[in-house]
Amino acid sequence: MRDINKKYYEPLEQMMASRHQYMAKIIKKIYRDTIYKFFQGRQILDLGCGTGEFIHNYYELGSICTGVDIQNNFKFNNKKNFELIEENIFNFLKKNKKIYDVVFLFEFLEHLKNNEKKLLFKNLSKILNTNGIIFVSTLNNNYISKFFSINVAENLLKLLPKKTHDHKLFLSPNGLQELINKNGYKIYDITGISYNPLIKTFRLSRNNLINYYASIKN
Ligand SMILES: C[S@@+](CC[C@H](N)C(=O)[O-])C[C@H]1O[C@@H](n2cnc3c(N)ncnc32)[C@H](O)[C@@H]1O
Repeated sequence: MRDINKKYYEPLEQMMASRHQYMAKIIKKIYRDTIYKFFQGRQILDLGCGTGEFIHNYYELGSICTGVDIQNNFKFNNKKNFELIEENIFNFLKKNKKIYDVVFLFEFLEHLKNNEKKLLFKNLSKILNTNGIIFVSTLNNNYISKFFSINVAENLLKLLPKKTHDHKLFLSPNGLQELINKNGYKIYDITGISYNPLIKTFRLSRNNLINYYASIKN
């Protein structure tokens, strides 16, 4: 295990509670189940998994977990039902033969070029269970999201290292729908995310102008 890049990954840890809350809301609506029962025995794939901290929570709830990241900043060792793989996701997806119930794409799509985003969803359509679900969080594509995520968060408040984001890669909910149309997927839900820098807390919000969660299904 390498030294973990704290400046990069710490703000993401602050998002974890709101991710869990978001998924609980969606799982209750779609699967009529609690998040705790739902994750028992599920196959989950976390692409761009960072430290592996988020997916590890679902290993603890009884899921069979695979995380993939191009950099090894992993906080956990592999064990039965929990594997973190240091690899480019596209190499991983070429070789992978497993089918997954849940795919996490948290704060990841905004790091892929547009042709890579297309290729990702094409590949996901082959490995997601018929009744499976993809959970996404990403940055919306407009001047407000550019201002807050780059000018404010990176340059002014220094919450993230400079050049973490390239606004040309940001994705609006409509852009996301266009990307997944070809693969027969639909956006089931979009929910905004708001951030309070004073208490370093993310919350679910009606405002999806900056950052948002999306749930994608067949
Ligand atoms: C903003 S971080 C998000 C980490 C994690 N999903 C979270 O929210 O805590 C984006 C991650 O994507 C990884 N990444 C970027 N491009 C990748 C690729 N082509 N294959 C695998 N990982 C990639 C980076 O190394 C980084 O850890």
